Amino acid sequence: MAVLVTGGTGYIGSHTVIQLVEAGNEVVIVDNLSNSNKIVLDRIEDITGVRVTFYEKDLIALKDIEIIFKENKINSVIHFAALKAVGESVAKPLEYYSNNLIGTLNLLQAMKKYQVNKLVFSSSATVYGNPESCPIKESFPLSTTNPYGATKLMIENILKDICQADPSFNVAILRYFNPVGAHPSGRIGEEPNGTPNNLMPYITKVAIGKLRQLNVFGNDYDTHDGTGVRDYIHVLDLSSGHLKALQKLDTLCGLVIYNLGTGVGYSVLDLVKTFSEVSDRDIPYKIVERRTGDIGMCFADPSKAQAELNWHAQYGIKEMCLDSWRWQKNNPNGYEKHSR
Ligand code: NAD
Ligand code: WQD
Repeated sequence: MAVLVTGGTGYIGSHTVIQLVEAGNEVVIVDNLSNSNKIVLDRIEDITGVRVTFYEKDLIALKDIEIIFKENKINSVIHFAALKAVGESVAKPLEYYSNNLIGTLNLLQAMKKYQVNKLVFSSSATVYGNPESCPIKESFPLSTTNPYGATKLMIENILKDICQADPSFNVAILRYFNPVGAHPSGRIGEEPNGTPNNLMPYITKVAIGKLRQLNVFGNDYDTHDGTGVRDYIHVLDLSSGHLKALQKLDTLCGLVIYNLGTGVGYSVLDLVKTFSEVSDRDIPYKIVERRTGDIGMCFADPSKAQAELNWHAQYGIKEMCLDSWRWQKNNPNGYEKHSR
């Protein structure tokens, strides 16, 4: 029996695939490579010794997805595949709603047809909107401010309805905080298209000399140094949360929701300082205006995942910076063509 991983060549998907394989699972990946590179499959093989079954298919095509279920004995699904850039989603809402919603609906149709009833879904702390307080609990009110976030919240609601209608359907919704870091081998990591929007990949590009300086978006927030505070979580911890969630789905749990964060908030300047220390590189920065739509502070209460999944984050901010840096240093141009 195999785990189907949608978006499995992407950043979080690829790290999770490695852990699934290392834990002895058979894995099938489906990805349309719209935001990832086939070379990831070679790297996964180098690390695990296993060539994972791969379908270069788009979730938008229901027939193609059904073929995957027909050709493999799928027992459960981890659904990472989505478009994920907040700013881009504001500029291209139709693309985001189409890709993320239709892709998910097709996946759910195929699961129903082939009687696969275990799903782990990648949600995001973005569904908490601008939270009234921190740490954020799963029970906090939900709202969104951009089309990307709206797709996550809509899918959460769709999954709730499906679980209500079908008691045999088991879903774990995982709300990630700010994923950073990379595989310690330095072979797998995050490769954003163009200039990064997110803080850590921006910092690594400054460190490697591809960007001149970091723009720090505001230093007048109500935080210890005025810069935005976030709950950065190592991608390895995030991945292990998925394996724990899969185990939970064996218990006929219905719908469960967990925050995956460390519970600790770091500011932009905290991250810059720690990154500088571990990489021994200067990170020049300039304070600029706040970024539209940003919130001051966001960090998780991860105690529900600790209590119910026996999961907690193990990596600290230094390891996050070190592993991000190693990935960037070893792969200055990302997953280059023909590299292995
Ligand atoms: P990613 O872009 O690296 O990976 C997503 C993968 O899905 C890519 O490989 C892309 O090619 C694939 N994909 C997209 N649409 C597809 C489609 N229609 N059919 C087939 N494949 C498709 O992103 P990631 O950072 O690994 O994120 C994984 C999931 O986690 C996403 O759902 C994202 O919204 C969610 N998430 C990410 C973050 C973050 O900051 N990285 C935070 C919270 C939640
Ligand atoms: C972190 C902090 C910025 C870049 C986003 C999405 C969220 C989720 C994770 C998917 C903030 C500051 C950033 C820069 C800066 N993705 N910053 N200069 O905004 O918390 O979350 O990614 O679900 O939905 O909104 O992450 O890394 O962009 O920003 O000063 O060049 O770094 O203002 O305080 P964010 P981020």
